[in-house]
Amino acid sequence: MPALTTTADGFLLRGDPFRIISGALHYFRVHPDQWADRLHKARLMGLNTVETYIPWNLHQPRSGAPLGLDGILDLPRFLRLAAAEGLHVLLRPGPYICAEWDGGGLPAWLTADDGIRPRSTDPRFTAAVDAYLDLLLPPLLPHMAEAGGPVIAVQVENEYGAYGEDTAYLEHLEKALRGRGVRELLFTCDQADPRHLAAGALPGALATGTFGGGVERALARMRDHRAEGPLMCAEFWIGWFDHWGGPHHVRDAADAAADLDRLLSAGASVNIYMFHGGTNFGLTNGANHDHAYAATVTSYDYDAPLTEHGDPGPKYHAFREVIARHAPVPDGPAPGPAAKLAPRDVVLDRCAPLFSGTASAAPSTTVAADRAPLPMDRLDPPSGFALYRSALPAAGDGVLRFSGGVGDRAQVFVDGAPAGVLERERGEEALTVWVPRAGAALDVLVEDLGGTNYGPRIGDRKGLLGPVAFEGAPVGPWTCRALPPDVPEPSAFAPTGRTTGVGPAFHRGTFEVEAPADAFLALPSWTKGLAWVNGFALGRYWRRGPQRTLYVPGPVLRTGANDLVLFELHGSAGLTARLTDAPDLGPEAH
Ligand code: GLA
Repeated sequence: MPALTTTADGFLLRGDPFRIISGALHYFRVHPDQWADRLHKARLMGLNTVETYIPWNLHQPRSGAPLGLDGILDLPRFLRLAAAEGLHVLLRPGPYICAEWDGGGLPAWLTADDGIRPRSTDPRFTAAVDAYLDLLLPPLLPHMAEAGGPVIAVQVENEYGAYGEDTAYLEHLEKALRGRGVRELLFTCDQADPRHLAAGALPGALATGTFGGGVERALARMRDHRAEGPLMCAEFWIGWFDHWGGPHHVRDAADAAADLDRLLSAGASVNIYMFHGGTNFGLTNGANHDHAYAATVTSYDYDAPLTEHGDPGPKYHAFREVIARHAPVPDGPAPGPAAKLAPRDVVLDRCAPLFSGTASAAPSTTVAADRAPLPMDRLDPPSGFALYRSALPAAGDGVLRFSGGVGDRAQVFVDGAPAGVLERERGEEALTVWVPRAGAALDVLVEDLGGTNYGPRIGDRKGLLGPVAFEGAPVGPWTCRALPPDVPEPSAFAPTGRTTGVGPAFHRGTFEVEAPADAFLALPSWTKGLAWVNGFALGRYWRRGPQRTLYVPGPVLRTGANDLVLFELHGSAGLTARLTDAPDLGPEAH
């Protein structure tokens, strides 16, 4: 008997009437030393439950590898901390999770399989999912409510009705979970309209809805879909995410609080998406590809009740007040903001150019390709960047054509000099270049800006996507190399000279800290790249915005000397970075 059961209009938890008041908090977007703090603040806002997805591709970046379950991936520890805080947990193991996460959580090594049909009964897909669940579920079963743990319900797939109609696939997942010992309540979630609900629901699972407004209408549509059972909004969108080149999205706190009140007044259960968004650390962000490709930024602040840096924002207080009208909220004052590091400048006065050799020593295999360069998924290790090298067949002005385009942003160099950039977002396939001599070196540095996480383009290839020609003459052979942008050894850096800071290069600076605390890294004179503090990958920065600062979690800093490293893809107008005490996520759109 599962701990959580349903009645004609609600839930029972171990036989007692229960309403789920949950908030989304993705452990993989929060530094693990901050999990306990965020969970505590969830309970203080009045939540009785937290919800998290599980990102398959982060737990298993290589096919057949054991699951990573340590550090930021130590989900069992997250579940223990939630239980210690007295919170229940909703688990959403996917295997597809959407979530503005690279590839929607589906590993690139799987979706790159030629002709595979992800999220379907394609046996290649279901066999991989089964093998994943074989590894994932044993460490999670002790945390199910039945075993005394906090997990009271498990989601099957994610908004499947927006994608497909292969109900047999959903049934396969249901059986796969049940067959591996999951006995808790299962649920599906779909956008609250009749077509999505019909295609995404499963007879044996609770059907829940995802929406941010139009509460009465959404609840009515859910009631039309199922005449009986609890009404639950599995994703109550109280904010939104941002793309590079777009505005920073915010939603008015009073407006979101009024909708929360409507939901709770209607007797519905809720999962606030997000309660605390956190950060797409490293290269983990996803992308959308509707009319054009658009990559999601590093911050996943989401304008959530708890900000990206874990401070209560206006929605925290507004929601706490609303919840208190419907359910008990812990006594005492709401938590205040955490300490911030006093602002300071960091001078990045040492540099290791990418093309000089020393900085590109990270292990990776070079693959030769005679005709067309290979896409990134054919290179090892999975890395987010690739470097392609060939020679140009003729001299002079001409058009360099990349058939099939690039995935997602290619910087072109002729004899080491920057010649231009091509972007998937703009559908670019050609560049006019000046070639000084026949046989000039052609280098193409390609960045995977994040795998599309929604719609039919999940699994789209990255890297150079087809043959390359200069003035119609084929370019080749190629050497193709994955380029994991790992922080080079300190010995690889030399003092930055007048010209060494030009082009793709790692830059390093040190700064002193008296007492570690949260900070925000502002890079006003830098162009585009990645930033690390003490080896921890903060994520991508891009002058394009909207986001202008990167969150530096306090636990990443140490008392004494700290290292800041940038992998700058272009160049900078100065050698200074600034640590500030407030975030700047850019110009707002409501
Ligand atoms: C959908 C998905 C979520 C997320 C939100 C938007 O509801 O299920 O994973 O992508 O949209 O933030």
